[in-house]
Amino acid sequence: MKPCCAACPAESGKIPPTILLLYGDLTRDMVKIKKIIENKKQFLDLLLLADEQENMIDKYLPDGDLFALYDGDLKSVCVVVPINSETCELKNIATYEKYQGNGYGRALINFIFDFYRNDYKTMLVGTGETPAILSFYESCGFEKSYRVKNFFTYNYDHPIFEGDIQLVDMIYLKKGL
Ligand SMILES: CC(C)(COP(=O)(O)OP(=O)(O)OC[C@H]1O[C@@H](n2cnc3c(N)ncnc32)[C@H](O)[C@@H]1OP(=O)(O)O)[C@@H](O)C(=O)NCCC(=O)NCCS
Repeated sequence: MKPCCAACPAESGKIPPTILLLYGDLTRDMVKIKKIIENKKQFLDLLLLADEQENMIDKYLPDGDLFALYDGDLKSVCVVVPINSETCELKNIATYEKYQGNGYGRALINFIFDFYRNDYKTMLVGTGETPAILSFYESCGFEKSYRVKNFFTYNYDHPIFEGDIQLVDMIYLKKGL
């Protein structure tokens, strides 16, 4: 288990439903990021913003690490899964619509880069061909890596649209940790 705050009951062997990982950076006293270890589906409304088909989320959520960012109340979540001994993958990241553009997504990504730095060499993230999301990831330090043709048309039971754009291929980006 990753280290967490000194007062965390996990230190005494009692695993709490959430583990407080970070609280109060210098600029945003109220920002907390928690690793959620029980009842991960309570965050389904947010997870569905990034991945609209629940049975696709069910494929990675049980074994994924789920992080929730609170600034007062809940703002964002993300899920990371191991791929192999060197690589992990960011599977889902979402911020409530009314709070987007306030830096929460980037803060969560910077946090997971640090969190996994000693465990993996590379983090992957896959997304549809959506320019805004691709440039969000690139601005966080990811670079385009490869494409899985027809991922969305093959794996989802209905056409997936991001605005006017129908998602077909999955574009993978990677970042060295
Ligand atoms: C992608 C997402 C998680 C980013 O979270 P966020 O909290 O808004 O991220 P930030 O506020 O840290 O934004 C970081 C940068 O990306 C830009 N950005 C974020 N989302 C954007 C969007 N949908 N369209 C255009 N630009 C966006 C921001 O303007 C910001 O740029 P800046 O730092 O130059 O001002 C959020 O937009 C979201 O939840 N989208 C819906 C779910 C989704 O599509 N998830 C990704 C699935 S692959």
